[in-house]
Amino acid sequence: MKDDSIEIKRSIAISALHDLKKHLSDISQKSVNIQKDKLQKLINIGTQINQAGFINNDQESRIEQIISLQNSIETDPDFINIASLRSTPVFGDGSLESEIVFVGEAPGYEEEVQKKPFVGPSGQLLGKIITAMGLDRKQIYITNILKYRPKLGDGKQGHGNRKPSSDEVKISINYLLQEINIINPKVIIILGGTAMEGLLNIKEPISSVRGKIHSFEGTKAIVTYHPSFLLRSKNQISDKRKVWEDMLIAMELLEMKITDRQRAYFS
Ligand code: URA
Repeated sequence: MKDDSIEIKRSIAISALHDLKKHLSDISQKSVNIQKDKLQKLINIGTQINQAGFINNDQESRIEQIISLQNSIETDPDFINIASLRSTPVFGDGSLESEIVFVGEAPGYEEEVQKKPFVGPSGQLLGKIITAMGLDRKQIYITNILKYRPKLGDGKQGHGNRKPSSDEVKISINYLLQEINIINPKVIIILGGTAMEGLLNIKEPISSVRGKIHSFEGTKAIVTYHPSFLLRSKNQISDKRKVWEDMLIAMELLEMKITDRQRAYFS
């Protein structure tokens, strides 16, 4: 796992550029008016970033590819015309250099408000798992199989959510494949049944699929319980332990250092 400070600074710079792009799209502007002297300062910062090697050609190309993918999703008639989905896209978030990609189901209420995946209650729990792995959310990449929140009834659903239908997954999966190809992670962590079915075409219970190494188009994949399942589980300790065992498998695949304390969590 790349964890030196340059790598973290790079991730932060790239994430900031993403946030700026999102902000410009939120306020429906493709450009901003900047005074000449301020523009020069920005250009100087850009030159320094380039000279420091914070963004290399590979990263630049990933940023371009992901922005182009997001534009395709936003303008795809399949999504625009499907009445069963809401209209706010929630794209993947995090480092495009990440060696791990977490894949969940679909955005919920809080994700739609913040336009960021996994920021509601499930996201808080996922954040704790990521921290326990010794990682920072900014170092990894988190996305969903479906980039739009499924509608419930007439769409006046408050915090209510529903599982995506197979038709909704069908029109989304190709975008997820492209996203994974751009990032090219070493390990994909599949959270829950919807993502498992969409990516691996497995329809069995998670209990019989987790704890093993799978392969998704040549990339190692780990299937585990979705954080929202853990939040609802009546056997929280035992189910959390299983998720942690799955994370240890992922950490081993990534050749991450695992401390005795980490190994002993939940034992
Ligand atoms: N559940 C998901 O699967 N994805 C999110 O982004 C939030 C909750």
